[in-house]
Amino acid sequence: MSEKPKGSFNVGVDLGTSNLLIYVEGRGTIFNEPSYIAVDKATKQVVSVGFDAAELVGKVHDKVEVVKPLQGGVISDVSMIREILNFTFDQLFVNSSQQINKLLICIPSEITETEKAAILQLGEELGIDDTKIDEEIKAAAIGSGVDIYTPSGHLVVDLGGGTTDFGVLSLGDVVLSKSIKVAGDYFDKQISDYVKEKHKLEIGPQTAEKAKIALASLTGDMPKDESGKPLTFDVMGRDLVSGLPKKVTLEASEIRTILLDAFEAVKATLIATLETTPPELAGDLVDNGIIVTGGGAKIKGIKDYIEQATNVEVHISPTPLTDVVDGTKKLLKINKNHYFGEF
Ligand SMILES: Nc1ncnc2c1ncn2[C@@H]1O[C@H](COP(=O)(O)OP(=O)(O)OP(=O)(O)O)[C@@H](O)[C@H]1O
Ligand SMILES: [Mg+2]
Repeated sequence: MSEKPKGSFNVGVDLGTSNLLIYVEGRGTIFNEPSYIAVDKATKQVVSVGFDAAELVGKVHDKVEVVKPLQGGVISDVSMIREILNFTFDQLFVNSSQQINKLLICIPSEITETEKAAILQLGEELGIDDTKIDEEIKAAAIGSGVDIYTPSGHLVVDLGGGTTDFGVLSLGDVVLSKSIKVAGDYFDKQISDYVKEKHKLEIGPQTAEKAKIALASLTGDMPKDESGKPLTFDVMGRDLVSGLPKKVTLEASEIRTILLDAFEAVKATLIATLETTPPELAGDLVDNGIIVTGGGAKIKGIKDYIEQATNVEVHISPTPLTDVVDGTKKLLKINKNHYFGEF
């Protein structure tokens, strides 16, 4: 067992729909796991969180439920967020009011005042006096290496699991933001709906996600395997006709058609964001380019796709899955209240 760290320190949290990441000052990002929690329905005891809970999806008996506390960028269950943080902090040996000095939780821009209040109260309930919230898109921008504190506009697109967020930032703040629920989970749902319709096969969301990650591409240039053959991915599920288990081989072109269709909404919102950006900042965006982050930034061909849609140069973050939590690290260091805290 490792020793409890001594003294007080700051903690940054990226509470994502798909992934929960926790940064502890002096220790680095020490938690990076799926945002799942498994709970015993009768006793309300936490069974597991993260990878251990994700493994149980679709496989538990009716005494245990596996929950994702955020859906589509919306907090669906605050008490589960408290449980997931409590359990994880306990695991990480940082669950003590004397020890956590400041807790910074990054949340979606479109969150309601009630949800903000609930998150702040959650910090209190965890015994932490100084709990702050800040916008994910801001932390993502900082984490991807953008200096948002200059008087120059930057446009960041965060393609997450629950939402795709678009934010124009300047002088340390979000000037304008938009959010749509067309993101990773939506793509997975479109894939499972397609497989059901076309191949008469029922697959679970995690299988759909695996197929997406293996094959996702927006270009006509299909991903190839080592021998140069177009990449395919086998999915197992239940045959809707016979009711028996069956395997279907998906091709990258099938996933591409689904993604291109879904990306119409991403393209439209991106264009709407550019159109509503004040002219002075719009000029900056052309110079600075569009920064793409979040898990969806890993989709092949996304750079060309967005460049063609907007005529603006695109920079894909090299660390899209950790930008928000990396941003908390920097935000925790900035002491000026103007740049830190409520928005
Ligand atoms: N190589 C990949 N290709 C396509 N999608 C990917 C890839 N890797 C991860 N993803 C998707 O990215 C999403 C997770 O991204 P991320 O961790 O940024 O989301 P999140 O921060 O938890 O969600 P949100 O910000 O919406 O609350 C998942 O839907 C996952 O399937
Ligand atoms: Mg995110």
